[in-house]
Amino acid sequence: MSYQSQYFLEAKEAQKRAYAPYSNFKVGAYLITKDGRTFYGANIENAAYPSCICAERSSLVTAISEGYRPGEFESITITVNADKPSSPCGTCRQVLKELCDDDMPVYMTNHTGELLESTVAKLLPYGFSGKDLE
Ligand code: THU
Repeated sequence: MSYQSQYFLEAKEAQKRAYAPYSNFKVGAYLITKDGRTFYGANIENAAYPSCICAERSSLVTAISEGYRPGEFESITITVNADKPSSPCGTCRQVLKELCDDDMPVYMTNHTGELLESTVAKLLPYGFSGKDLE
């Protein structure tokens, strides 16, 4: 399924759940599974900064905890209150690589819904995965 503007609105809803008292940089993620379920994710910060969890990973760990398995995801849409569309951090790219298909769309939006479209593989070229351990 290709991008729909509704995804941005859902990511905005997810963003409202952010707990970001330190950076005040609120991020929302809207994850869709291949069987049509949806999950929100939001960044959850911590006074011990490295313990912060990004919105993208928040949505993915929620879905996995609910029983979804790697490869069962259709797309993820991310949004931020910024002019530049949200860009997943390196750690999130690695987690996307682990849990999502290489060709899964990653829809990055800014505060007005401007869209930048990529895929898991494009965001992490030459990425490391379980296949490298075989
Ligand atoms: N953040 C995300 O939620 N996703 C990203 O991919 C980039 C960064 C969060 C982490 C932290 O709470 C805040 O944005 C500032 O880095």
